[in-house]
Amino acid sequence: MQAVQDIKVIAVCGAGTMGAGIAQVSAAAGFHTRLFDLDEKALQQGYTQIRGNLQKAVDKGKMPQQQMTDILARLTLCNDMAECKANVVIEAIVEKIDVKVSLFNQLAAINQTDTIFASNTSSLSVTEIARQVAHPGRVAGMHFFNPAHLMQLVEVVSGEQTTPHTARLLYALTMEMGKTPVRVKDSPGFIVNRVARHYYLEAMEAVEAGNADISATDRLLEAAGFRMGPFALMDLIGNDVNYAVTVSLYEAFERAPRFKPGAMQAALVAKGELGRKTGKGFYNY
Ligand code: NAI
Repeated sequence: MQAVQDIKVIAVCGAGTMGAGIAQVSAAAGFHTRLFDLDEKALQQGYTQIRGNLQKAVDKGKMPQQQMTDILARLTLCNDMAECKANVVIEAIVEKIDVKVSLFNQLAAINQTDTIFASNTSSLSVTEIARQVAHPGRVAGMHFFNPAHLMQLVEVVSGEQTTPHTARLLYALTMEMGKTPVRVKDSPGFIVNRVARHYYLEAMEAVEAGNADISATDRLLEAAGFRMGPFALMDLIGNDVNYAVTVSLYEAFERAPRFKPGAMQAALVAKGELGRKTGKGFYNY
């Protein structure tokens, strides 16, 4: 069984919006970090994002140049799964259970018998993922928030079969990463995504009803103290990802009307207007 001080290598799978941020956090915390993506372009984009974030910190005088160099030196890009040998695997790939399960099972076959597998899923059941993996006790949720290099909170999610040791280890690892872990039970959307659903859904309903336009709604909520208005936030998260989370909660809560997915967002997803990552969403970028 590993202790937190035994963790030296972390594999982050998926170099998209979340994976790149998580890899940055991991490398900045001193871990040798392997960032894996099947798509070479996504891998390069992820790296560019990380370098850009670090350069911004250097330019603002928040980080010495040498620290940036050291962080990048701890980061290895890989598009061959065989290179994902690690003490802890954190997956941030597509939000599809069969793909996540298949990744974990393939990685389990090439890793040690004490490697821990954490999923960054927003809305899938950790219990259900674990149930289909050969070693359910070593599977848990580690739910970062976007942008991962800036947001403090990480929900550490125990599935029904997650061992107390796995949960404790990921809690301690989250602290080593300089983040704030909060233990949550496995339930649809955990806590933050479940409660936040109404921030997005009510905002879309209000706009559709003609009560205010998109930018006025965002400005109002920001003036009320929220860091980001709901539309700007949906664009940052990615409308595809945000929409998929709503659908997942809607189904999990037996189509309760309070979780009914927003038609405005469905239309954007259908047009491929996914937000910042595609240059167009509720706003143009
Ligand atoms: P994304 O679409 O930006 O990136 C996903 C990446 O995974 C892509 O680069 C894709 O090429 C790669 N990928 C897909 N299948 C793969 C496989 N089998 N092996 C290796 N790489 C693969 O997605 P995003 O937004 O980063 O989301 C990833 C996960 O994080 C999802 O589970 C999502 O629910 C969760 N999440 C997303 C948040 C957000 O704000 N976008 C916040 C918190 C969690």
